[in-house]
Amino acid sequence: MRPFALVIFLVLVAFVIAIAITAAVGFRYAYEPSPSNVISRIRATPETYNLWNRSVTQEEAKGGNGAVRIDEETLRLGREAFYKETFNNEIFLSDIVGILDGPLRITNVTKAILALKGGGTTNLRVEVPETVVVGGRKFEKGSYFDTGLDVPRGAIVPLGMAISISGWKIRAGITCAACHATVDPETKKVIEGAPNGDLNAGLLIALGTNSAAYFMHTDVHPLAANIPKVVHGKLTLPNTAALEEAVDEALIMCPRGNFDSLTDLKADPTQNPVSFTWGNHPYGWSGNFMAGPFRGLSSQNNNVHALNSDSLLLADSSQTLFDMDKETFLAVLLQNAADKKYRYDPSSGKKPSKTARKEAIKCRRLLAILERALSARRGRSSGKEYGIRTRLTRNC
Ligand code: HEC
Repeated sequence: MRPFALVIFLVLVAFVIAIAITAAVGFRYAYEPSPSNVISRIRATPETYNLWNRSVTQEEAKGGNGAVRIDEETLRLGREAFYKETFNNEIFLSDIVGILDGPLRITNVTKAILALKGGGTTNLRVEVPETVVVGGRKFEKGSYFDTGLDVPRGAIVPLGMAISISGWKIRAGITCAACHATVDPETKKVIEGAPNGDLNAGLLIALGTNSAAYFMHTDVHPLAANIPKVVHGKLTLPNTAALEEAVDEALIMCPRGNFDSLTDLKADPTQNPVSFTWGNHPYGWSGNFMAGPFRGLSSQNNNVHALNSDSLLLADSSQTLFDMDKETFLAVLLQNAADKKYRYDPSSGKKPSKTARKEAIKCRRLLAILERALSARRGRSSGKEYGIRTRLTRNC
């Protein structure tokens, strides 16, 4: 072999190995702006320790009482989580809701970003690949979806959108920054904490192939009389196409810059608020800053990364909340799941909870072991400990 051919061959082998490792180990990318790419004011932390929603001094924090030190490391971790952490909501959004399996695809999203030539935008416009009707609205081939996603100058992915590759699959997830950060229309730099006033969250979810899994954020009850049913043994399930259409119709009505954060079977979107809360307590926008650590901020974050990111979490409360037994609820969510791995086949006669939990159980076991290891260190909470936990949850 000639030296040149040998070099090409080795480069190719290295490339194939790199791709195989990436696919096996997994990889996630989201944009976190450098301080010079942000135009918001940055100030020093107003507290040194926080103990179950009270600012305390170093003196009061002594003695292993669980106070959390608000040091540079904690703040850096918080900033990173704000821009980049999805807690794996890409699995629900991509494998179950199928946001990239409908007319919104990684190819046309990438094309739209490349067309910006690094210039950034406050509204990523993505080409409609073929004429589609979603929620009763027709989108003609060659026209554009107004996603409202912001792309900062020089970024290769939209703000608040995490792209990941694992198990040979590309997925998209979202982070806080999708709704709570925006791009300045003139400089295309990031304004952190300010709401994305034109994010088209309703449309983005409606474009998924199984938006039905998000029904509880709308006023559509899957077992309502106007939705045709199919009986599978003990389970009576809605016709997938009819339910999908009804949920899409409701989602597409969501005004831009709004999002329906509540799982209350009501179509009641709220305007994305600023996410600054310091000094507002207890008068938060949503009035729910009463309970839990950090003046309720922890519960707020949990709402985002639990109920809003994965409706499967509602399975155990579905009877009370939606008057649906757990198995029916899971079957509704999974019978049209985008990825076969999570799809429930009603004719199998198996319990839907078996399909749904197989993956989750593996992960929970691992987390339980690690939580136990961490609890041995309780009382000395620090940014590092939060960091460890964040990384653990990421793998579940
Ligand atoms: C899909 C859009 C979206 C995402 C993503 C999102 N939020 Fe929100 N956020 C909202 C909406 C809408 C509200 C208002 C909810 C309500 O009042 O019902 C809200 C409310 C809040 C508030 C309350 C503000 C106040 O003054 O009361 C805080 C704080 C907040 N979010 C922080 C976060 C954090 C931290 C994350 C990431 C972990 C996050 N949000 C992710 C849309 C979003």
